[in-house]
Amino acid sequence: MLVGAETADDAGVYQISPQLALVQTVDFITPIVDDPYLFGQIAAANSLSDVYAMGGKPLTALNVIGFPSRFLDLSILTEILMGGLAKIHQAHAVLLGGHTVEDAELKYGLSVTGTVHPQKIVTNKGAREGDVLILTKSLGTGIISTANKAQMAEPEALQQAVDSMVRLNDKAAEAMVELNSHACTDITGFGLLGHAAEMARGCGLSFRLFYSSLPILDGVREYAARGLVPGGAYCNERHFGREVFIAPQVPEVERIILFDPQTSGGLLIALPRAKGEQLLQSLKEKGIAGASLVGEVINREENLITVE
Ligand code: CO
Ligand code: CO
Ligand code: CO
Repeated sequence: MLVGAETADDAGVYQISPQLALVQTVDFITPIVDDPYLFGQIAAANSLSDVYAMGGKPLTALNVIGFPSRFLDLSILTEILMGGLAKIHQAHAVLLGGHTVEDAELKYGLSVTGTVHPQKIVTNKGAREGDVLILTKSLGTGIISTANKAQMAEPEALQQAVDSMVRLNDKAAEAMVELNSHACTDITGFGLLGHAAEMARGCGLSFRLFYSSLPILDGVREYAARGLVPGGAYCNERHFGREVFIAPQVPEVERIILFDPQTSGGLLIALPRAKGEQLLQSLKEKGIAGASLVGEVINREENLITVE
């Protein structure tokens, strides 16, 4: 066992031979958009992401489904699974099967097995002092989904969020691995600051994040100011907020964006400062729009994370 359950990492890793290790993860979510095919794509991209966050490549996938068959037509399940399969194929992986249970609430996701070279694993604890931090997707998908559920999201804002959530982290991971990055995690349920805090804790250092450099989806600031915020963001704030210092210049109503739970969020990558520009350039060449240098790794301070 190379990476197990005791570190809060994205996936487990088990060595098979000197050249080969398996990356294993399972993840499932409740619907965040109305369209079942889109939901299937988003849930699958979200599940596959944990393999990419370890520097691995997906190999096989199993569907994990909770379905309320008394309330929903089976054609909805078919659409969800078609969406998921499209992403599995895009990831060059294969679907081996799955399991469905009767459930009061719809849930869907994948158990994914990937491969990685044992020496090329990118954990969430390898960041070093002086590294820069690069984030590959914009923040705010939880807030936009909440605004959408309240029927208050602008169609353009929702479309941008959906485009971001269906996008695989495959190319971002490829760019990260090519440059021998030190550490990585994907931004999901704990929000940017929750996952950044786990990464900082893992390496025993502190992170400084630059608020004005953070990529934030259109509409998110406005919806946050109107209180269209998922409950999970406040849970994250309660849980991680005491290890975080947010400078006074960050607007009060926008702070919750930093804790917004993301679905199929981007990768947060730590790598030497000298390689930072190269990674941004490589991401651009691979068609990853909106990646930004958002912070740096510093000596351990009282707070795990400072946002300024
Ligand atoms: Co993860
Ligand atoms: Co996960
Ligand atoms: Co079964």
